[in-house]
Amino acid sequence: MKDRVKNTAIASEKILVLDFGSQYAQLIARRVRECQVFCQLVRHTITAERIQELAPKGIILSGGPSSVYEEDAPEIDPRIFQLGIPILGICYGMQLITMHFGGAVEAVANREYGRAFLDLDERGIKDPLFDGITERIQVWMSHGDQVSGVSGDFETLATTKTCPIASFVHKKLPIYGIQFHPEVTHTPEGTKIIANFVRSICKTAGEWTMGSFARETIASLKEEIGSKKVICGLSGGVDSAVVAALLSKAIGDQLSCICVDNGLLRKGEVDSIRREFTKHFKTNLRVIEAEDLFLNALKGILDPQEKRRTIGHLFIKCFSDAASEIEDAVFLAQGTLYPDVIESGGAKDGPASTIKLHHNVGGLPKDLEFTLVEPLRDLFKDEVRRLGLELGLPEDIVWRHPFPGPGLAVRCLGEVEKGKLDSLREADAIVVDEIKAAGLYRITSQSFAVLLPVQSVGVMGDGRTYENVIAVRSVSTEDFMTADWSHLPYELLARISTRIINEVSGINRVVYDISSKPPATIEWE
Ligand code: XMP
Repeated sequence: MKDRVKNTAIASEKILVLDFGSQYAQLIARRVRECQVFCQLVRHTITAERIQELAPKGIILSGGPSSVYEEDAPEIDPRIFQLGIPILGICYGMQLITMHFGGAVEAVANREYGRAFLDLDERGIKDPLFDGITERIQVWMSHGDQVSGVSGDFETLATTKTCPIASFVHKKLPIYGIQFHPEVTHTPEGTKIIANFVRSICKTAGEWTMGSFARETIASLKEEIGSKKVICGLSGGVDSAVVAALLSKAIGDQLSCICVDNGLLRKGEVDSIRREFTKHFKTNLRVIEAEDLFLNALKGILDPQEKRRTIGHLFIKCFSDAASEIEDAVFLAQGTLYPDVIESGGAKDGPASTIKLHHNVGGLPKDLEFTLVEPLRDLFKDEVRRLGLELGLPEDIVWRHPFPGPGLAVRCLGEVEKGKLDSLREADAIVVDEIKAAGLYRITSQSFAVLLPVQSVGVMGDGRTYENVIAVRSVSTEDFMTADWSHLPYELLARISTRIINEVSGINRVVYDISSKPPATIEWE
């Protein structure tokens, strides 16, 4: 890839979170966004000049695993304290403020982890940070150090039983510290405290919504792309669909979409892409009919990783060939999300960050001479879904469960064949249909069918059958790293089983997978 388009579609009002390695840094950003104010994570090494360029309405210093008095403890540019921008230090952030202004931080005898009760003192009750909060609230603590003394510039706002300075404010500057974590749900009033900081203390209007994000992004895409052409790969997933919808609104028929139909997609997926991106969003859609090509290449391959490699290589070839036929295309659009940007190298400031290539479009070769357009770089997954609905994409696409790049090939165990794939596709559609009808599709994270190449004996009417098994898999997960199997109602499982056996040829037995991850994985291959 040559370059990356600068994402200028960021709101005029923003809050920056300076990340000191907190496990909760992303959560802080989400909480701020829930106050309808845009929020970005940046490295703690950001300079005061860069902050002035970004002109945030407020700064939050996150927590972190270090101790302020450790050698090499992460610091911030001290000039940031003189910018006059409101600052809220959380945990480590509070301790940094303390040290900067000549106070003291000490290790506590026992690391405090868990629920505690915060008592506001008289000064705290009156402070806008705690507006609308009762005198005693439950908070979440997670720290080994705490502030043991502050300079005369500060006033204490709150205490806990073991923490004499659990919150403070500078007497003259809009600088606050809190020892507890308002961003986690274990601090039930935390969102209100963050909202007080963001809205009252930072004086924001709170106008950042998905509607405003869509309008600003479309305007900036128009400006950055001008009259040039853009290519977007459509995988059937929500991210690429939202990218294409945004681009279609911004640049209309300068957008060409490519969908590689590898014969391994879910039932109706290619049709829904066709309908949406030719009739509703009028893009130049090219569907590459490559089922035979993929199935021929997969013949005789049993090993899952070999399947993945074969599919990956073929995808790149099909996509590159199709892309090279689109004359004068300068840009390639990708559905990179905010967590991808952060995960691939810590919090970033600005567009120059490295990203991991989005595997939903198969991981494209680096030598494709395109400039990347990534209009979702600043969004979390749930925000992408809200944006999709805002743009008018159907719920079907917006709420679709994630699907692996190699598609049904890794759900058709052993050798992949057309007949098996057709049965699997039908069975999978029944699983999804029934789970949707039971109102559980959005509660489960991934629900699908797997075809097992073992034959078992059954009876059908007067006859004996000897056919394949379908395993039903349904899991709930936050991050796909660990997952629990969904405790689906027996009646629902019974309906799924009856329908699959009655409606799908070649299947006479249905089993339900009750393994969690780990030790099992979500996919079977
Ligand atoms: P596992 O099976 O490792 O899956 O528990 C975790 C998540 O990753 C998805 N997955 C893949 N996605 N290409 C992808 O794009 C792949 O090869 C692949 N393998 C697994 C899986 O669906 C689940 O969401």
